[in-house]
Amino acid sequence: MTDKMQVAIDGPASAGKSTIAKIIAKEFGYIYVDTGAMYRTITLAAMRAGLIVPGQETVDEAAVTALLPKTLIGFTPDPAGQRVFLNDEDVSEAIRHSDVNGLVSMISAIPAVRTDLVKRQRDIAASASIVMDGRDIGTTVLPDAQVKIFLVASVEERAARRFKENQEKGIDTNDTLSEIEASIARRDYLDSHREVSPLVQAADAQLVDTTGIDIPTVSANIASIINEKLK
Ligand code: CDP
Ligand code: CDP
Repeated sequence: MTDKMQVAIDGPASAGKSTIAKIIAKEFGYIYVDTGAMYRTITLAAMRAGLIVPGQETVDEAAVTALLPKTLIGFTPDPAGQRVFLNDEDVSEAIRHSDVNGLVSMISAIPAVRTDLVKRQRDIAASASIVMDGRDIGTTVLPDAQVKIFLVASVEERAARRFKENQEKGIDTNDTLSEIEASIARRDYLDSHREVSPLVQAADAQLVDTTGIDIPTVSANIASIINEKLK
């Protein structure tokens, strides 16, 4: 157990994890750690190294593993949201594209990738009170987290949210709603069925269904769960 506060938010793609985690981090003064961005950045590094291309379904795991020591992942605060760095390069936008979406579940299923990133995540958590979002935070990364939330929403609503977000941010604006829904459903399937730390609700996590619930209501609900723990 740690004297630092640990809030773990897990759940499927586009359930609102990072949006809620950022609000909570700001409100309580905790560090926000986006573990999905870390898996996305390794995926981008593997693409840049020519180890994977869109559509590929298997990968040379040893070659990806060999990239890990050379792949520094950094976060810097930014008023418009956190920036993500691959070595010295700002990859905040590059890691959100559909080619990365299509490949990231394959890379995140590699056991050596998970071991390496889980260690980096725990090192960050050792230094400060944090809110960390991902797939295996409550089950594997921070099993003693004081607050564990499993955030879900219907796949239709999650696809509609991601579609709207892409249009607003100018990311993959040609992707249709049904393509996005299929991509999300595929990623959820792969993430839930991999052998090492699959996406699953921790036994002691609280399920929060955000279907039809707006962001202020969800974040107020989670803030009250944290405040109960802090009493
Ligand atoms: O934002 P979105 O929910 O679409 O995805 P993300 O949180 O950025 O995560 C991208 C991918 O990284 C997931 O689909 C998983 O394959 C992987 N991931 C993981 O395996 N474990 C984590 N703790 C976080 C993400
Ligand atoms: O991190 P994750 O992939 O779980 O989702 P996100 O990136 O936080 O949220 C995906 C999109 O859904 C964002 O554009 C949020 O503004 C939106 N959202 C929403 O409309 N209602 C919620 N209750 C939560 C998120």
